[in-house]
This record gives sequence, structure tokens and C-alpha cells, in this order.
Amino acid sequence: MKIVLDILFFTILASWIPDSFGQDAAVALKSSLLSNYDKSLRPVKSESTPVNVDFDISLRQIIDLAEKEQTFRLNVWLRLYWDDEYLTWNASEHGGVEYLTIHSSEVWRPDIFLYNNIAETYGAVPSITDVTVTSAGRVTHLQPAIFTSACPVDIEKFPFDKQECELEFGSWIYTGAKVNLSLVKPYADRGVFTKNEEWILKAVPMERQVSLYPCCPEPYVTIIVTLQLERRSFFYMFNMVLPCITLMILNVFGFYIPPDSGERLGFFITILLALVVFLQILSDSLPKTSTTTPQLGQFFVATIALVGFSCLASIVVIRLSYSSPPSRPLPRWLRLLLLRYLARLFCMNTIAEEKHVVHPAREGVDNPAFLIDDDEAFEQKNSSIIDLNLSIGEISRHIREFVDKAHVKKEEEEDQDEWKMAALVLDRVLMFAVGLGSIIVCVILLL
Ligand SMILES: *[C@@H]1O[C@H](CO)[C@@H](O)[C@H](O)[C@H]1NC(C)=O
Ligand SMILES: *[C@@H]1O[C@H](CO)[C@@H](O)[C@H](O)[C@H]1NC(C)=O
Repeated sequence: MKIVLDILFFTILASWIPDSFGQDAAVALKSSLLSNYDKSLRPVKSESTPVNVDFDISLRQIIDLAEKEQTFRLNVWLRLYWDDEYLTWNASEHGGVEYLTIHSSEVWRPDIFLYNNIAETYGAVPSITDVTVTSAGRVTHLQPAIFTSACPVDIEKFPFDKQECELEFGSWIYTGAKVNLSLVKPYADRGVFTKNEEWILKAVPMERQVSLYPCCPEPYVTIIVTLQLERRSFFYMFNMVLPCITLMILNVFGFYIPPDSGERLGFFITILLALVVFLQILSDSLPKTSTTTPQLGQFFVATIALVGFSCLASIVVIRLSYSSPPSRPLPRWLRLLLLRYLARLFCMNTIAEEKHVVHPAREGVDNPAFLIDDDEAFEQKNSSIIDLNLSIGEISRHIREFVDKAHVKKEEEEDQDEWKMAALVLDRVLMFAVGLGSIIVCVILLL
């Protein structure tokens, strides 16, 4: 019975030994490795050897690209690999321990900074994670980080703009001869990238650059990561451009409202106000720069100008159609231009076919002889009856006055009608002009 228990005990012990021995070995190895380790010195045995740091980056998420503040915030996974000459061991001498994990604050790390950082962290990469060290001394440091960088946003083509935001990484104190950064791949890894609602990430090329700074004679190596972004413009098309185009169409058809209905000017002014409100909303979300005007802003301003023109033109048309007495006849050139050529051009045949150029009524008035002729004949025939003659003369004078007045009135009405028709033709011409202007504005600024 005792033998059986002993065997059981030893089998259990035997099954435990390798693990506990493994951990012991790792603990011993770690303490022996770190006992004389100075993490502030470069881990090379010869001073002239550079530490070759392989740099790679994996994009996780674009948190924000603020046009107004010109800042860019994103979440990345940094991947750094280098050789540490002091963290090497013979695996078979240390219980087969092939690799160790050590907290990154306990070993030397390249002091990689984001140069164009604008956050309070100064662009430093904090030591959060552990590093993995192989027995050959290869250190792998994988670390998540959130960076805020400056990104000059060019809003000229907004909302159809493409932006390029750069992240500039480099060692802060070590020159290229001490810490030599190099790229693992020419493009950043996008395998774990989360789709952004506002931006399409086109490509992320990376570039190694050697640059000199005024401070120091030695060259420094930097890695430039360029994020090529394209804005998803659907939001702006749907929420701003579409309403604006609707207002544009309304503006064109505003000329269809009869000028004497009294609502036309109010209609145009309402459109104008709506557009100003839209422009206000737009300018709230953009930087207050005066060097460039975004395309959408230009579109709004052009539309406002068109509506403003409609208001002005409307005032003129209303004034024309209410040409109050004493009215003057339509000037000859205006009559020719509007009632003949333009009316014909815009297919207003009923107006164009009327005889506007000659005034039949006016000819009669200009030659008052037709009344007097009748009068004299009457007088010659009945010269003997003086009383009758006198009273008839008076009646005829009254009739003449009345006829004169009627003629003048008729003439005025005809003049008025002509002004009204001119206004009608002008309205049609303006409607076409504003429509054409709207199409041109849309084509130039939206395509
Ligand atoms: C590791 O140690 C074993 C045994 O001591 C030895 O045979 C081997 O050559 C060593 N390997 C290296 C790379 O030094
Ligand atoms: C630094 O790395 C680059 C490419 O990775 C290499 O061409 C260059 O020779 C290295 N410089 C030094 C001093 O080792």
C-alpha cells in the first residue's frame, strides 16, 4: 500500500517538476539578465554599432479629424523590433527557455516620439506593455497608442476634398548612427482598421527619411507615415446641397408668380433667408480661414447671388407692370426688343404677333380733322337756325371733348397693357436667365 502511494506521489511530483523547474529557470534567467542591465544605455557592446530598429505600424481607427482645429487623432498599434546584445542566453543551458517576457520599462527601448504631436503627452510612446525577448536577443515591442497630430486640412474642395495627414516618428535623442530606424514594409498594415464614417482611407504609404536639424550636425532618421484620406461627401450632398438645389429651382420658378399677386418679392426674400441660414451652418463647421473658400461655400454664395439678382429683377418687373399714370408709351427700342424679338425667341407668339409698333388710335388723335369736318358740314347745311346751331355746336363740342378723353384713356390703357406685356416677356427672359445661371453654377461648383 505504501509502495503504491509512493509511486503515485512520485508520478505526481514528476509531472509537476518540468513546469516548476521551467518557471524557476525563467526567474533565474531574468534576474541574471537584468542584474547588471542599465536600461538607459544602448544595448550594444561596441559603441560604434547602431541599434537597428525595425518600425511597423498597424492602423486601428481614425478617432477624429477636426477641420476647425486642424488636428488629427488616431489609434495605432506600434510594432518595434530590435536586437539587444545584453539579453541573450543559451536556451539549453537555461532549462530550454526560448523566450522571456519583460516589462518594457525594465529594458532599453528606442525613444520613439511623434514629432508633429500636439497633445500634452509630447508624442512620447508610454511603456504599457511587456516586450518579448528571444534567446538570440531579438526584442519585439508591440504597443497600442493614441496620437494627436497636427494635420493641415485644406478645405478648398470641401466637401469633395482629399486630405493627407502625416505622422512623423523618430528617435528623440539618438542620431541615425546610434538608432537606425528602418521600415519593415512600405505600407502600413490596415488589417485591423475600423471603417470610418466620415473618411475613406485610401492608402497609407510609409517613408524613411534622413534629415538634418539646425541643432546638431548628425543626421536623424524619421519615419513618415502618410494617411491619404478622402471625405465621404454624401452627408453634405444630402443635407446641404440637395436643399440648396431645391431652393435654386424654387428661385427659377418664382418668376412664374404673377407680378401683381403681391407675393413674389416675399417668396424670393424667404429663399434668400433660408440660404443664409444654410451658409451659417456650413461656416460653423469649417476653420475661419480667409485664404481659401470651400467649394460648398462658393456654391452657397453663388446661389445667394442668384437669388439676390432675382429679388432685384423682380422689383424691376413689378415696377414695370404697375407703370402708374401719367404713363408714357413704351419706348420704341424696348418695344422692339421685348415685344418683338425676345417674345419670338421665347415662343410667346401671342404677344409677338400683335401689332405693337403702330398705334392706330394715336393716328386718329394726331389728326383731329375728322371731327371738325363733320361739324362744318353740319353748320353749312343748317345755317339759318342759329339757336339750334349754337346748342348743337355746344353738344358737338362736348362730344368732341368726351371722345378726346375716351381716346386718351384708351391710349393710356393700351400703354399700360403694353408695359404689362413687356413685363411678362421680361419675366420669361429672366426665368430663363436665372435657370441657365443655376445650371452653370451647379455644373461648375458641384462636378
Ligand atoms: C549552448 O550550450 C550547449 C551546452 O552547454 C552547447 O553545446 C552549445 O554549443 C551552446 N550553444 C551556443 C550557441 O553557444
Ligand atoms: C540604416 O538602415 C538602412 C536601411 O534600413 C541601411 O541602408 C543603412 O546602411 C543603415 N545605416 C547604418 C549606419 O547601419
